[in-house]
Amino acid sequence: PYPLYDRLREQCPVQRMDGGRFPFWLITGYAEAREALADPRLSKDTSAFEHVLAPDGRTRDIAPAIARSLLATDPPDHTRLRRPVTRAFTPQLTDRLTPRIEQIAADLVADLADRREADLVADFAVPLPLTVICELLGVPPEDRPALRTWSQDLFLHGDHRHRDAASHHIAAYMTDLVTTRRTTRGDDLLSALLNDQDEAPTMSPEELVSLATLFVVAGHETTANLIANTALMLLTRPALMSDPHTTLEALPQIIEEALRFDAPLGIATIRFTREPVTYADTEIPADQAIMISLAAANRDPRSFTSPHTFTPTPRPQPHLSFGHGPHYCPGARLAKLETHIALTTLLTTFPTLTLTQPPSTLPWRQSRQMRSPQTLPTLL
Ligand code: HEM
Repeated sequence: PYPLYDRLREQCPVQRMDGGRFPFWLITGYAEAREALADPRLSKDTSAFEHVLAPDGRTRDIAPAIARSLLATDPPDHTRLRRPVTRAFTPQLTDRLTPRIEQIAADLVADLADRREADLVADFAVPLPLTVICELLGVPPEDRPALRTWSQDLFLHGDHRHRDAASHHIAAYMTDLVTTRRTTRGDDLLSALLNDQDEAPTMSPEELVSLATLFVVAGHETTANLIANTALMLLTRPALMSDPHTTLEALPQIIEEALRFDAPLGIATIRFTREPVTYADTEIPADQAIMISLAAANRDPRSFTSPHTFTPTPRPQPHLSFGHGPHYCPGARLAKLETHIALTTLLTTFPTLTLTQPPSTLPWRQSRQMRSPQTLPTLL
């Protein structure tokens, strides 16, 4: 999509797009995206703007399962709902997971030990974060495949009946899970949230279920994309892999640049105007939908020199792949930790890992939201 983004940005970094299911304003410029992401005048309350998303009154755009979650609320509700997340989902909780994530990664590579070939997406990049988030919520292994299917249907299916069915299943499942976990707690994230709410309840039971559901859907697909994208960068740039020790040392920077180079969520952040707003001299009237393309913003030549070149050294501007402002991704630290462990495990276990297909022929996920290759066939 990058040549298209470049053309659109050159015309105007903020422009109206017609012809889709609903008209919207697309932001492709970095400065404009950053401003909009943190703009308190914009709303994320999808339920309140359903008429904008479904002018024909037929489609519902937010799955009911996450309609009451952080992602679809504004202050004061957003502030109220985000506070327990900040209290429970601490950097310490994330860092404590290190040995467990290392174990999960080690188990996954052990399963590949007697094979010569593997698809790094299906065999590694997807199961790793799925296992991590399910363990954080206490989802037993036998239920994980169903949860993955529902969460994919929730986001990736244009067909609203499909999505509503998935939303119904996932909400019912998560309601049961939260009820069970009230009496069986451990030192995981859901327990931390329940403990927090015992002390000072600020969320309704439905809001807690919605939050837990959001963690499942936000927590694994995106991280799987990042693991796959980072692996692809390494496998296609021999210079980065010439010395294993140097590669491992440079990994944090390689992951940052992979985040910039291919935002795992390409266009996924939506906002609505309650009043007219102006970005880049373009006025957007009230009652409009705005889509912010993080992938396009991260390759804006006004903010990044040689934006289409993968350069794993610090850049003066931060990428926007985890968003910016009050909705900034609370899972960013965990996603980077998982990716770091994933790549370290892969590279140390399979030092001669190679792609078996030319990178230009790899299929990419058919979604404007999800940016990552569909498969990464490799020789181990
Ligand atoms: C929000 C990206 C991993 C949980 C967001 C947003 C972005 C994002 C762009 C902001 C959306 C907006 O402003 O509209 C990513 C990427 C990830 C990732 C690229 C992986 C590479 C995770 C993980 C978790 C998580 C691992 C949880 C374990 C959330 C939640 C929100 C969020 C709960 C909503 C925050 C709010 O609205 O206040 N994520 N995310 N994400 N993310 Fe992530």
